[in-house]
Amino acid sequence: MPRTLRTATGVAGTLSLPGDKSISHRYAMLAALASGRSVLSNYSTGADCASTLACLRSLGVPWERKGNQVEIEGRGLQGLSAPRAPLDAGNSGSTIRMLSGILAGQPFESVVQGDDSLSKRPMRRIMTPLQLMGAEIGARDGQFPPLVIHGRALEPIRYELPVASAQVKSCVLLAGLYARGLTEVVEPVETRNHTEIALRRCGADIRANGSSISVVGYPALEACEMRVPSDLSSAVFFLAAALMLRDSDLLIEGVGLNPTRSAVLQVLRGMGADIEVHPDSDSVGEASGTLRVRGTDKLAGGTISGATTAAVIDEIPMLAVLGAVSEHGLRIRDAGELRVKETDRIATVAANLRQMGVPVTEYETGMDIQGGCKLRAAQLDSCGDHRIAMAFAVGALGADGDSTLAGAEAAAVSFPEFFDVLGSVVGN
Ligand code: S3P
Repeated sequence: MPRTLRTATGVAGTLSLPGDKSISHRYAMLAALASGRSVLSNYSTGADCASTLACLRSLGVPWERKGNQVEIEGRGLQGLSAPRAPLDAGNSGSTIRMLSGILAGQPFESVVQGDDSLSKRPMRRIMTPLQLMGAEIGARDGQFPPLVIHGRALEPIRYELPVASAQVKSCVLLAGLYARGLTEVVEPVETRNHTEIALRRCGADIRANGSSISVVGYPALEACEMRVPSDLSSAVFFLAAALMLRDSDLLIEGVGLNPTRSAVLQVLRGMGADIEVHPDSDSVGEASGTLRVRGTDKLAGGTISGATTAAVIDEIPMLAVLGAVSEHGLRIRDAGELRVKETDRIATVAANLRQMGVPVTEYETGMDIQGGCKLRAAQLDSCGDHRIAMAFAVGALGADGDSTLAGAEAAAVSFPEFFDVLGSVVGN
């Protein structure tokens, strides 16, 4: 049954959001490869990060979850065991791509599969470097999950990434743990560096020099206590709600502010958003802080292109909705990667915006969203994509009447509490 979405006049209050999805995956994987018991607090509540934990259990890694705290009994770099059945990454591109780097270095065969959406996402981008390192990998039609990975001791490589992708970079760096010597990745543009930070915290020898990142193979990884900051990509839905609705004043605490993730704040400020950032003084490894956002009368539009597009790729659905209510609209360029996310996000964003009466021009690698629009109440559809569900749930708050959203439950992929949290801050 589609979910009914009511309009609102503002959002107000103080929020603490669940842990960052990207960081949770990495901490869990590295904790599994470390020696000793790691304690991860504020672990993501999303289904994607649960998929990572389930895969780790199938690889012989015991863990216990108490609320949002996960305690993982690390098996050491060489301590994983062969899974008895295919590993299930669910909807999670991060799980399949990063875990494949680890599986490529194991002395056993594993199969990794996922849901219908994941089964259509491109895997050549990780197969190529892993094959260059010596792993044998089969895939459906040579490029889609399920992946069949015959692991072994790997050879180090220097690999220039053909696409800006933190998942691919991380995959190669994790495989590099199983290669004697130095494995080096060169990025075309900077992507999120959570893997590098997590590896360093666990004691790996990891070096970053401009666009080149290298890791020394066979480190002794140490168990750690690590707090996952709240997910900035989830916080963005609330920032956007506050910006769309004039009677808004919202505080969001403990949000991850890693500079390789927080470009969205500059983009929003460039559109005229009033967002204060108060950094936490006690954050370790990953920066965090409190955000304060107030409603505004006027949002300017703009253009998102080049390295900025890569840096805000997960936030584009939400930015696109803001673009429609901005004064001059939003142009999005260099965003071909959106076509291979959980859905084709250029198509799913455009379809839902058009439902709301917003003129959109689609290009192969971008779109133009007309500004100055009053959003029309509409029948919206997430098409099973968590970020589309949440972006348009927020858009519906600013519409001229009640909307409906099919597939609202997809939000649980990254943020199961989303609708409850939204309900706790909206004023009608
Ligand atoms: C992620 C990297 C990005 C992002 C995804 C999470 C990560 O994907 O879109 O949601 O955790 O490394 P790409 O690596 O495909 O750019």
